[in-house]
Order: sequence, then C-alpha cells, then structure tokens
Amino acid sequence: MLPSQRALFDMPRDVCYLNAAAWSPLPLASQEAGRVGVGRKGRPWELDAAFANTMHERARKAAAALIGADAADIALVSSVGYGVAIAGKVMKIARGARVLTLKDDHTSPVLEWMSRAEAGGFRVESVAHSGDGDWTSAVLAAIERPGAEPVALASISSVHWSDGGALDMARIGAALRKVGAMLLVDATHDAGVRRIDVKTLDPDILIFPTYKWVLGPYGRAFAYVAKRHQGGIPVEQTAFGRKRVVAEDPVYFTDPSYVDSAKRFDMGERDHFISMEMAAIGMEMMAGWGNDAIVARLSMLTKRLAEGLSGDRTNAGATVMDEKLRAPHVLCLGFPQGMPEDLPKKLAAQKVYAAPRLGRLRISPHVYNDEEDVDRFVAAFKTAAA
Ligand SMILES: Cc1ncc(COP(=O)(O)O)c(C=O)c1O
Repeated sequence: MLPSQRALFDMPRDVCYLNAAAWSPLPLASQEAGRVGVGRKGRPWELDAAFANTMHERARKAAAALIGADAADIALVSSVGYGVAIAGKVMKIARGARVLTLKDDHTSPVLEWMSRAEAGGFRVESVAHSGDGDWTSAVLAAIERPGAEPVALASISSVHWSDGGALDMARIGAALRKVGAMLLVDATHDAGVRRIDVKTLDPDILIFPTYKWVLGPYGRAFAYVAKRHQGGIPVEQTAFGRKRVVAEDPVYFTDPSYVDSAKRFDMGERDHFISMEMAAIGMEMMAGWGNDAIVARLSMLTKRLAEGLSGDRTNAGATVMDEKLRAPHVLCLGFPQGMPEDLPKKLAAQKVYAAPRLGRLRISPHVYNDEEDVDRFVAAFKTAAA
C-alpha cells in the first residue's frame, strides 16, 4: 500500500482535508512549476519556440498513460463539458433513439444531450437505481429493457459524483456493444485512481479533468477519442488541427485538411505551457504511484471512516453505501432524516473539510490523508452532528 504522501503537499497537520472530489490541493512540485512557468512567460524572448509543444505533448502522453491510450488518441481540452461538446458534434444520434444518462449525474455529460434532444428527435432517459445504490444493474436494465426505443448512446460517469457509486464499466460497455450503442465516459472521479484501460473498455469518448483526482490545475482536461470518431469536425477550427497552416510560411493556407489524429480536437490556445506543465506533473505523480497502490491506500481510509461512523447513536443516523457498490475513494453519508443543520460549516470551523452534495456529505480522501485525518473526522463529525 502507498504510504501517506502528505510531505509532498502544503498541508498543515491541523487541516483535515477530505475533499479531493471537489478540488485537490496542488503538490508542491506543481506549485513550483507554476511559478517557474509564470517567469518564463514574463521573459518570452528567452523561450525556445518549440517549448510549448514539448509541454503539451508531455501532458498528452501523461494523460494517455493513465487510461492505457495512445497519445495520438488524446485531445487537449479545457473541461469535461468541452469533451462532451466534441461528442455532440461527432456522434450521430438516430431519431427515435434513446440517450442514457444517470439520475442526478453532473451536468457536463448530461446537458449536451438534453439541449440536442428536441431538434435531434431523440429522448434522454435519466436512469435511476432502485434505492440500493446499484447503478450498474440499473444501466444494464435500461439498455436491455424490452420494447423500449433503441439505445444510441450512454453518456455516463463511471463514478457518480454525488453518492460515490462505482459503475462496472466493463459490463456496461459489453452490453452497449451488443446493441450497437456508443459509450461516453465521464471519468472525472475515476481516472488516475481505479484502473482504466481504453484498449479493453473501448469507449467512444472518455474525458477527465485534472483539478480533482489527478492533482492538477483548473482549465486542463483530456479527451480520449476513439479512432472511429477521428474523422469528425472539431468544436474549434485551429491552424494546428490542419495539416499545413503555418504563420511562418510565405503561403498561409497551404493544406487546410485536418490532421489524422485526435489532435484535430485540441482546444484553442493549448500553448498555455504554465498550467499544461502543472497538469503533466500531477498525472505523472499518479502514474508513478500506480492504481493498485493508490486504491489500497484510499480504500483503507474510506473503510476506516465507514467503520468509525457506523453503528453508534452519535452518528446522526448516517448511512453508507455497500462497499461492493461504492468507489474505493469516495464515501458519501446519506441522512434518511436529513443532514444535521450546518454540518459542513460546523466541520469547517474545526478545519475538517468535506462537501455537501445533494443532501449527502461526500468525504473524499487522497494520497495526502492518513489515519489521523480519518480519526479526527470521525470525532469532529460526532461533535458537529450531535
Ligand atoms: C462527474 C463530474 N463531471 C464533470 C465535472 C466538471 O465538469 P467541467 O470540467 O465540464 O466543468 C465535475 C465537477 O464536479 C464532476 O463531478
């Protein structure tokens, strides 16, 4: 199991930060890279013209390594929503078909399809589980429901942001393939932590941002686009998305046909080398630790949390999802009688941080947390919830 990595972060001992699913702290190394990067932009004449390219290719490679992809199949984007906008342009949804989403999933994998449904003549079906937290069975049942319109696409998170439910993407992917449907994965709360291999899962598009689990800055996200969609029209029309449109050439639009890889989908101004390097560092750290070691550490912490919070009159009736159905790194407390008033605020007053999400309290430890944080959380929770 990975030991605590707290020393690599600027995290005082009296801070109990269990909120990586909202946004993680930047490692000290990324902060330093950001400072150096700002200095570089302050003296652009000293910078080699190829430097930005080195940075975005480094980030592309680091992102690819986290999900078992080839770097050429990764587009540099600014957000999950941007990646879903690519999907909106390249995926053709047949009239009369269904697009499956998860009930109360984050807006990013959902709203694109809601906004296109009426004009496109398709229906967005919001899949709910039966109250047991089993998202996988609910999605499989929706795919296979007899008599329903055909499924064109499932546009879903692989770990649900508000209850921490973990979906079995291998089974869902296989069921979708069987009916000829596409798969878009929002891997925001998954990539870097649970093992993902796009070569076996074979999603059509899979997207993740850097500012949460992979310890990076805002404004940097990565979209895997399967080769079968790489002939599509990108969201933005850029020079670098074309074979030869080069400012330094005497003729500008020499060859405006698109490049043959996911790079055609890269966002404009991808040369933001400051945050690109910061993003690369976080992803490289995650890859260096490896999925198994990270999962072992985080599941140990969430298990200790669940045990500390269970079966005690002082726990405000908090419930947790079955370990088999939840992600190893996210523990969401449900409150059948309602969350105690101001609970997150009362915790924050003790420098204990977790997030209220749709009536639950989402606790999300990362590699900088340890048993002392967990025990502090349990004690602070019992006082605040009393
Ligand atoms: C499941 C999920 N997807 C996406 C995002 C972020 O989306 P975007 O990068 O489009 O702002 C979040 C942020 O909380 C999230 O929880």
